[in-house]
Amino acid sequence: MHGKPLAYLDSAASSQKPRRVLDSMREFYETSYANVHRGVYDLAARATAGYEGAREKLCAFVNAESTREVIFTRSATEALNLVAYAWGLDNLGPGDVAVVTELEHHSNFVPWQFIAKRTGAEFAVIPFDEAGELQLDALDEIATRGRVKVVGANVVSNSLGTVNPVETLAAWAHERDAIMVVDASQAAPHRPLDVQALGADFVAFTGHKMCGPSGIGVLWGRRELLERMSPFNLGGEMIRSVSIERTTWNELPHKFEAGTPPIAEAYGLGVAVDYLTEIGLEAIERHEHEMTAYALERIAEVPGVTIVGPPLERRGGLVSFTVEGVHPHDVAQVLDWEGVAVRAGHHCTEPAMRRLGIQATTRASFYLYTVPEEIDRLVDGLHRVREVFA
Ligand SMILES: Cc1ncc(COP(=O)(O)O)c(C=O)c1O
Repeated sequence: MHGKPLAYLDSAASSQKPRRVLDSMREFYETSYANVHRGVYDLAARATAGYEGAREKLCAFVNAESTREVIFTRSATEALNLVAYAWGLDNLGPGDVAVVTELEHHSNFVPWQFIAKRTGAEFAVIPFDEAGELQLDALDEIATRGRVKVVGANVVSNSLGTVNPVETLAAWAHERDAIMVVDASQAAPHRPLDVQALGADFVAFTGHKMCGPSGIGVLWGRRELLERMSPFNLGGEMIRSVSIERTTWNELPHKFEAGTPPIAEAYGLGVAVDYLTEIGLEAIERHEHEMTAYALERIAEVPGVTIVGPPLERRGGLVSFTVEGVHPHDVAQVLDWEGVAVRAGHHCTEPAMRRLGIQATTRASFYLYTVPEEIDRLVDGLHRVREVFA
């Protein structure tokens, strides 16, 4: 990059891919590709086995009870929209409250805001404090606004890095007979994820952030809820029978997988899951924790830099910061000249930025392949930013 080696510090936006995932997808296309669930010929059976085999891997990866609870979507965004539309339209109405955190990515914020408005329900947010940590004492007041029906929270905030108390929120939701919708997009790639232990009702995450391809996401949902829900997308595959008078729905998970799914992408995600599992999610989490500790220490050395977000103990593998007098886009531009790739902007969390009284931050984010030298280069780059804008 500009004659320098790349320091890729933007894995929270999307991860790089191991060769094994790339090779396996190519091989799948070359030897086992056809449409799934339809053909009687051997090649179609192979493709179906590859696709359904990936579902089994994902089922084990998140400790789901059954593969019927694991739905392949195109992204976390689609998974969260699926819940907001298919559950929300039938279950929310006047007098109900849909609650999300003020730290949510837009993909678990805007769908609930929109469906609440459409159904006449109230939309409420759980605020956070200066350190980016949720203010749970606000819950009592939120509960006075009506019947709380759904609570949405991410496990790790993509813009501030906060690790949120999802289990506590799930317990609070269930005390009110509400459902808990968890966005695990910044958790599934980085730490062990057990959907049963979380106490959630729905958990969404996305393939491209966890060494898999783009175009594939996952929704895990509690079977009894999925069974009762209306479908989201309508068309081929998701039906049992169709007539002019009446259409009935296929069994889970197919009821929620209308049309030709992302076949090779699901297969590739299954291989990414093997890769992450073999390395070990605990080891990945430990490594990122070390990188984050090092980054917090080193970035704080740069004059004029303010780090936002929680202390190390309650932080995932990323550091968001501002540089006094320099717009985050300019910071990222100068870092790019040095071959350091970081993200600048509101990170799809405009309400969180607004609460902090800033428009944007620069964010460095880490993954299993991050090495300390890349953080050193980030810090050298930040000194360069200060020289350029002195
Ligand atoms: C916390 C969080 N939720 C959801 C998403 C959306 O993921 P996708 O764009 O793959 O749907 C992201 C991606 O940036 C994210 O960081």
